[in-house]
Amino acid sequence: MIRKKLIAGNWKMNCLLEEGTMLAKSVAAKVKANKYDCDFLICPPFTILAAVKKCLRGTKIALGAQDVHFADKGAHTGDISPLMLTDLGCSYVIIGHSERRVDHHESNKLINQKAVAAHNAGLNTVICIGETGAERDAGKTIKVCQDEIFGSVPDDATAKNTVIAYEPIWAIGTGKTPTADDVEEVHAAIRAALSKKLGKAIANKMRILYGGSVKPSNAGELLKLPDVDGALIGGASLKADDFVAIAENALK
Ligand code: 13P
Repeated sequence: MIRKKLIAGNWKMNCLLEEGTMLAKSVAAKVKANKYDCDFLICPPFTILAAVKKCLRGTKIALGAQDVHFADKGAHTGDISPLMLTDLGCSYVIIGHSERRVDHHESNKLINQKAVAAHNAGLNTVICIGETGAERDAGKTIKVCQDEIFGSVPDDATAKNTVIAYEPIWAIGTGKTPTADDVEEVHAAIRAALSKKLGKAIANKMRILYGGSVKPSNAGELLKLPDVDGALIGGASLKADDFVAIAENALK
């Protein structure tokens, strides 16, 4: 297999210190107990990154943040720089999640800038793309994803420093998912767009995750598709059993 599966949890704005450390310890214990042939990543909120890092010691679970600023330091009140994330032991950062594109009006251009800064600091990025329900109904899914790939993914992206997450916005937190055929069609189109932008060799090795209402019961079907290389999981990543069961079902 040229692309090892990545099972990534996006905890979003959830978990205070106690709950977060308990969850991280529980995931760490389950992952340690089973030798899963996949990569794991968890992305807690900024406030507990340091504490969660300690809970992951002795495991291969990577730590990621959910956003980053494009400057290394300076007058940006409330923001967090790429160097601050590496300083905490993060190796990944999620960029351009639809909740940030909407809540914080993040553009493809800004996401691209953030990704370059993250890569320069040695961080790997998970760059999120995906269409709204209205765009899907209008038959624009593939066009929206292509535009977001061309706009958000920087020219310095490699299969090592970049992961793409396709998250249809209408599937996030709703319990709805596209059909397996639809997911495969969009992922294949994303890979074709990556190939156009970065070359075939890089595109073939780059991981493309699916996100949006992934749970243990649908993970097997979705994560076995040829162009689906893992999952970015929201709600189900807040339960250690479900998060690990997703990996287990994906690898069966
Ligand atoms: P859910 O798994 O809760 O639908 O969230 C998906 C997501 O947005 C992950 O980034």
